Amino acid sequence: LLDLPRAAALSALIGWNQTEADWRLFATEGAVEALDDGQPALAATAATLPYAPHLAWISMVLVRPDLRRQGHATRLMRWAIQHLDGTACIALDATPAGRPVYERLGFVAQSGFARWRLPGPVASAGVALRPMRAEDLPAAIARDAEAFGAPRTALLRSFFARLPQAAFVAPDGSFVLARDGQRHPQIGPLVANDAATAQSLLAAAGAALAQPCLVDMRDEASALRAACEAAGGLAERPFTRMSLGAPLPGDASLSPLLAGPEFG
Ligand SMILES: CC(C)(COP(=O)(O)OP(=O)(O)OC[C@H]1O[C@@H](n2cnc3c(N)ncnc32)[C@H](O)[C@@H]1OP(=O)(O)O)[C@@H](O)C(=O)NCCC(=O)NCCS
Repeated sequence: LLDLPRAAALSALIGWNQTEADWRLFATEGAVEALDDGQPALAATAATLPYAPHLAWISMVLVRPDLRRQGHATRLMRWAIQHLDGTACIALDATPAGRPVYERLGFVAQSGFARWRLPGPVASAGVALRPMRAEDLPAAIARDAEAFGAPRTALLRSFFARLPQAAFVAPDGSFVLARDGQRHPQIGPLVANDAATAQSLLAAAGAALAQPCLVDMRDEASALRAACEAAGGLAERPFTRMSLGAPLPGDASLSPLLAGPEFG
């Protein structure tokens, strides 16, 4: 059984944003392999999220700083790939530190995004929105599946339950969700048909939270990036989306803000 507080202690130790609620999702919706040497923070972890027979995510590949360069990440990655045997496409979002480890295992870079910190809300682009209600979730889950390539029902329901006040929908079914975090709340996924709707959704979520927020923004989302820069946002670090096997499904252009590197 995964020790949620000590798993969260490992991610917090290296400055990541996951809470125990996030770790609970990995444990219930997927599987977590952990190395435990009895310290207050677990020694090393990896998580698998099998969203569908054709798409799974690997995440939370973390090694405590005192145990790095001993092959732990590579060993945990081999466990994850084996665990997901039979999945058409296995994907992950690599930090610069993780990328060479994954390249050696056959993962190929597909696209890029960056983690941004927004000190406050971006300006709205004027699209009228309304708060999301629980009845809106099935449609949002379907829209998300179009963009992401597989349904993420438990994930989106969890995000909505955690920060319902930051969830909004547009008349055309575009939507945004958010969740709480160890450092700051994170806004995303955001699925929208056009840039003005995307910006208005991000503005509404940010205004509802009224505090610094994190987003993971695709490199191609230039209009949204301009809005984030105008609001004083700063890119903190880059990620590379990588895959093994079949091409990534879905239509990434529909989702300028991702759920996050740990969820895809
Ligand atoms: C990225 C990370 C997971 C790598 O973990 P790790 O356990 O150090 O990784 P490995 O030991 O499997 O491989 C790392 C390097 O050590 C080398 N190595 C492995 N075993 C070794 C050994 N016995 N002696 C010397 N070197 C060794 C590997 O060849 C690899 O070489 P490289 O520096 O040229 O890439 C770790 O640095 C980390 O937790 N970073 C912060 C979180 C993060 O970015 N995670 C990735 C998310 S995508």
